[in-house]
Amino acid sequence: MVARPHGGRLVNKVVKDSRRERMLREVEELPRIHIDRNTAVDLENIAHGIYSPLIGFMTREDFESVLDFMRLSNDLPWTMPIVLDVSREDAESFDEGDLIAIYAGETPLATMVVEDIYAYDKKEYARKVFKTDDPRHPGVAKVYNKEDLLIGGPVELLNQLPNEYERYTLRPIETRVLFRERGWRTVVGFQTRNAPHIGHEYIQKTSLAFIDGLFINPVIGRKKPGDFRDDVILKAYETLIANYYPKKSVVLSIVRYEMKYAGPREAIHHAIMRKNFGCTHFIVGRDHAGVGNYYGPYEAQEIFNEFPDLGITPLFFREFFYCRKCNGIVHEKICPHKEDVRLRFSGTMIRRYIMEGKAPPKEVIRPEVAETILSFEKPFVE
Ligand code: ADX
Repeated sequence: MVARPHGGRLVNKVVKDSRRERMLREVEELPRIHIDRNTAVDLENIAHGIYSPLIGFMTREDFESVLDFMRLSNDLPWTMPIVLDVSREDAESFDEGDLIAIYAGETPLATMVVEDIYAYDKKEYARKVFKTDDPRHPGVAKVYNKEDLLIGGPVELLNQLPNEYERYTLRPIETRVLFRERGWRTVVGFQTRNAPHIGHEYIQKTSLAFIDGLFINPVIGRKKPGDFRDDVILKAYETLIANYYPKKSVVLSIVRYEMKYAGPREAIHHAIMRKNFGCTHFIVGRDHAGVGNYYGPYEAQEIFNEFPDLGITPLFFREFFYCRKCNGIVHEKICPHKEDVRLRFSGTMIRRYIMEGKAPPKEVIRPEVAETILSFEKPFVE
């Protein structure tokens, strides 16, 4: 039994065949706006049902409800604004009620019925979603870079941006069939923006002790400097799975999505996306979707208490680390030893080894995975 989509129905706003041909002729005549790559990715995620039940960009009613209550105006849990920003100048070319064309460069991506054109307060957006208005927070900085108006309304997708990872991309409509074919009654989703260390492997495998299947779903898209590059993450996972996972227990597929680093709120959003892929469970470990010290290490777990009606079960993990005395991967609930015998999976430490061209200790990263990462000239986003 795969999970029911969020809101009950999987959204599909991808237009095909003769209707698409006709709409592609008609868009020429419509008022036109241009969107950036990341808004285009949100648009595709709406169209493919990854953001079900959203059928378009948020109207003011939903936007404000999400900021204030972490729910859509129909009371369904939803924590991250999914918005389309336009300049005041661009907004002059259409009115509420109009059908407009959304372009990326010369490519018409979609049409949208403009239900709502509204102004918003960027600092309020930042404070409510990110719990800070500090422009050094990478998610906040992106809010400050947005245009001054938002437009909301349903979309229909005509074209997609080129996807160099198409081979690795499964949409909810496909994963739902695949999970059923595998006979999985329960599926645990794993969100990641990293190449796998042994801590990641342990939380995944611990989950597999009582869940039928594992869906590893790395996010591909613009990240912050110092994060692993997309191709490195994929190759590292392929190596890990080939060497250490029973193939029948795992599905690896990417989702195009821009990390917002919104910690707790983003953890809920990540869970909803995986529910739409068909997952019944979702892993939330230490400092999920966090950045710097903006969020407490387990805040992204605590927020789930506010959503008993989420429809996907979170699996919470304490921080895993290697203990020399225990001689294994453990966590603070089961390891009585002191800090000086513990080796933690710190991103900074892993980065330091890789930058020096060295493999991190085998207790931290599988040697085959380290070798794969080291085979890239530039493994990190610059
Ligand atoms: S995230 O931004 O996508 O959350 P990352 O890819 O590092 O970052 O983490 C993926 C998942 O693994 C998250 O749920 C995170 O909390 C969890 N995680 C990462 N490292 C550890 C660890 N050492 N112990 C427990 N959970 C971890």
